[in-house]
Amino acid sequence: MTMDPAVSLGRGLVLPNPVGVASGTFGYGFEAERMGPIAHLGAVYSKGTTLLPREGNRPPRISETSAGMLNSIGLQNPGVEVVARDYAPRWREWSVPVVVNVAGAGITEYVEVCERLSDVAGVAGLELNISCPNISHGMDFGTDPKRAKALVEAVRRVTELPLIVKLTPNVTDITEVGRAVEDGGADAISAVNTYLGMKISVKERKPVLPGMGTAGLSGPAIKPLALAAVAKLRRAVELPLIGIGGIGSTEDALEYLVAGADAIQIGTANFYRPGVSAEVLSGLIQFATDNSLQSWRDLRWSD
Ligand SMILES: Cc1cc2nc3c(=O)[nH]c(=O)nc-3n(C[C@H](O)[C@H](O)[C@H](O)COP(=O)(O)O)c2cc1C
Repeated sequence: MTMDPAVSLGRGLVLPNPVGVASGTFGYGFEAERMGPIAHLGAVYSKGTTLLPREGNRPPRISETSAGMLNSIGLQNPGVEVVARDYAPRWREWSVPVVVNVAGAGITEYVEVCERLSDVAGVAGLELNISCPNISHGMDFGTDPKRAKALVEAVRRVTELPLIVKLTPNVTDITEVGRAVEDGGADAISAVNTYLGMKISVKERKPVLPGMGTAGLSGPAIKPLALAAVAKLRRAVELPLIGIGGIGSTEDALEYLVAGADAIQIGTANFYRPGVSAEVLSGLIQFATDNSLQSWRDLRWSD
């Protein structure tokens, strides 16, 4: 292949290729590293990380649906101190860039977590999760353009790291929040997080997943919805876009690149086909060679 597969997400963050693994489906990369090679990846997006450790929601926390899965993990993570002190030095030895997914209960927590990670070697960038449907107030920022912009501005003031903002699709118009985070100083946008869903046990006459009963839907079921969200965003913002939602094959990834994504993340498919990211990357490279692409952007749909 003559084409350079690298993609730039702004502020100096250049991924060796567009294929990353989505937050919450790859942990912090260490278990996956023991199971098989990960050096081919364009990026690892870590589990959502908060200021203090969290145990997450009570089980059961996942359930299969006809074309996907529901999860209600509730941001189980060891807290930012462990990530900065113990995990980042290990990432420093990797060739794969690691982007830390950050969550918080309010602006202060987001700012503190991002500040702590700011000068830590091994952290290539931050992905602000303003879209978690599984904790109370998890989507407060992602569903309100004004608050989303204020959050990005506040975080922008404390870090020079590349800042990706991950949007929720659980809004009337995702482009309003996309424009707001662009104005606030984001370097890139990832879209989308999970769709709010529910599964009911008729036998027990209650939702299968405890708590509020709602959970986040992911997997093949959401691909057409997420693809539409990415295509809408592409027409509304200039920022690089990372497409996420139901990607499990080269064809799926290509659809996102045509819709306007600069890079992609694979989530749920990692659970049922652990080798999927390597497969998708080699499929993309084969496609680029067969079609003499000069850049992934050649694929973009323009009308
Ligand atoms: C079990 C599980 C845990 C997740 N945890 C997070 C998280 O901590 N932070 C986040 O931004 N997204 C999280 N997500 C959302 C995924 O990163 C991704 O946006 C979503 O699953 C859609 O992609 P997919 O259809 O390829 O899975 C999680 C998804 C799953 C299935």
